[in-house]
Amino acid sequence: MNFISSRIQEYTEKISAQEPELLQELNKETHLKILYPRMLSGHWQGRFLSFFTRLFRPEMILEIGTYTGYSCMCMAEGLEEGGRIITIEKNPELQSMFEEYIEKAGLSDSVTLMIGNAMDIIPTLNETFDMVFLDADKDGYLRYYEMVLPKLKKGGVILADNVLWSGKVTEKAKPNDKETLAIQHFNEYVAGDNRVECLLLPVRDGLLWIVKK
Ligand SMILES: C[S@@+](CC[C@H](N)C(=O)[O-])C[C@H]1O[C@@H](n2cnc3c(N)ncnc32)[C@H](O)[C@@H]1O
Repeated sequence: MNFISSRIQEYTEKISAQEPELLQELNKETHLKILYPRMLSGHWQGRFLSFFTRLFRPEMILEIGTYTGYSCMCMAEGLEEGGRIITIEKNPELQSMFEEYIEKAGLSDSVTLMIGNAMDIIPTLNETFDMVFLDADKDGYLRYYEMVLPKLKKGGVILADNVLWSGKVTEKAKPNDKETLAIQHFNEYVAGDNRVECLLLPVRDGLLWIVKK
């Protein structure tokens, strides 16, 4: 969901850095072949992730929710020399497209895809991360947050996507709307958590920028 008109969106993308050719190809192929292509970060958010990592220069990134690898490839643009990304995806059907593009991008040595449920995989990781991109099932956000915070360096960043949930977070959620309720709870919990500081960026579907103190 975008909170700006398609006219402004088009203008924003025209003025912003262009989407690299390989990412345009992945974007198109995802839209042609994969269910729910709106899940892909896309041109503007992809450039945001690229600019963010190029400024922050993370050495270790954890991504929760790979999909076809678009956001992973964008974040890899700013990895520190010798840095790595671990990305977790529960759907094994996405693996072949992901691997094809990671290879084309020359990223096979710096990116590790782990197929399975992130809830089971995260506790097995021994790495310490500079950055986490949280973009999987919304009702798991709070559990992922608690799992990854001890594995995040001081000053490390968690970016959580879709925290405005099409604006639904500002309204009273229906009792059966589990995702809206979960994101509302997550946002309020993080905002009141004195282990971190956060900044909600009202761009695209809302990105919560969380810094570990
Ligand atoms: C919004 S998409 C990720 C989009 C991707 N980050 C991008 O920007 O291109 C969310 C992905 O999380 C995956 N996912 C959902 N629940 C998961 C879980 N418990 N463990 C691992 N992956 C999960 C879904 O299969 C889906 O591919």
